[in-house]
Amino acid sequence: MPPDESVGRDPLFQYDDPIFADERLLEITHLPGPDRIVGRDEQMQRVAEALNPAIFGSEPTHLFIFGKTGTGKSLISRSVTQRVITEADRDGITVKYAFIDCGEQNTEAAIVKTIGQAVNEPDRSGVSIPDRGLGTGDYYKRLWQAVDACTDVTIVILDEIDMLEDDEVLRKLSRAGENRRISDSRVGIIGISNKIDFPDGLSERVKSSLARDELVFPPYDATQLVDILEKRRDAFHEGVLTDDVIPLTSALAAQEHGDARKAIDILRNAGRLAKKGNDALVAEEHVRAAKEKTEADRFNELIEGSPQQAKAILYALTLLTENSISEEFPTKVIYSQYKGIAGRLGLDALSERRVQEILQELNFLNVIQSEREGRGRGRGAHAKHRLLEDPSIVKKVLLRDSRLSTLDA
Ligand SMILES: Nc1ncnc2c1ncn2[C@@H]1O[C@H](COP(=O)(O)OP(=O)(O)O)[C@@H](O)[C@H]1O
Ligand SMILES: [Mg+2]
Repeated sequence: MPPDESVGRDPLFQYDDPIFADERLLEITHLPGPDRIVGRDEQMQRVAEALNPAIFGSEPTHLFIFGKTGTGKSLISRSVTQRVITEADRDGITVKYAFIDCGEQNTEAAIVKTIGQAVNEPDRSGVSIPDRGLGTGDYYKRLWQAVDACTDVTIVILDEIDMLEDDEVLRKLSRAGENRRISDSRVGIIGISNKIDFPDGLSERVKSSLARDELVFPPYDATQLVDILEKRRDAFHEGVLTDDVIPLTSALAAQEHGDARKAIDILRNAGRLAKKGNDALVAEEHVRAAKEKTEADRFNELIEGSPQQAKAILYALTLLTENSISEEFPTKVIYSQYKGIAGRLGLDALSERRVQEILQELNFLNVIQSEREGRGRGRGAHAKHRLLEDPSIVKKVLLRDSRLSTLDA
């Protein structure tokens, strides 16, 4: 850095990054431009067909999108919606959108409020949409006023829609026009889920009232992941990535299913590890360490909010998995291992029935996989459970808990 530039800079911090030219390109919230999107032409076309009427101010076709994590569902929905907004604007049509993460906002009132706030311009609608204090019915009223006054078309993207507490909001949104809640405006819904069987869980009322198209996003293969990462190469300074970094990252991310999120996270963590180690180049060893870190972080996200009892149960399953050639264990076996661990931790041991319930919850969190054997015999008692992540990673994450860390002797 030339001396004149550093005048006045606080020497506590580092000002030029030796590894990253623009790390933001690798952030999950970053929306890459169309030229950086690879291998989703067909899916983009289908989303565009569903949203196409919005360009003329007409009602879009509602659309449900399914596929495993990291297959580009959120990205393609946001990207195509953005392009619709731009195209519509050329003809003086106002399209707005709200992106709802149903994992964070799963109640009807919260969702209606968020959509309202995304589209509302108080000067035009004459209403404000406060953060709290209104009942669900009043939030709806203001939402319809805002939608009518401020938009021609509103596109509502409901991400992780399977986490919705109550699907009534779907029915109301999809019926808004018919029921004359809104008169000058249209609403289109994109529902996104990692669960392919999601519509089975919808109530009959919603299923029958919500006419929709459905679309499946397949996982990427390693070659597609290479292409995706190549288009983000400029996140790094030129020459910093050694030749095998992108192919190795892609191969590792494709191991379970081709997951672009995992690939990008590994690449970013590899760069961070190189930087932390003061290494000038990102190399294979950084990628391998980054894979471990990425998996541990992901797993940590899944369980960090879980109570210590749940962690103790998971620890029991982890020990069993480590010390046995079998991968699946019946509740009974996990329970007796758990009782010993609870004792060592000074926790009151839960009943076997309660442990079974917690295993079910972990199953729901996609931390373990539970299968019931010989259907119908004593609910859950004969279930078998399997860890979905490498036991060494699970162990590392569990031992981050201050209480469980005492087990590491
Ligand atoms: N086809 C693609 N081209 C470029 N980047 C992609 C592609 N698909 C996914 N990504 C990137 O991978 C990450 C995960 O994608 P995302 O859309 O969140 O997946 P999903 O919603 O299916 O879990 C994001 O950072 C996204 O930008
Ligand atoms: Mg997503």
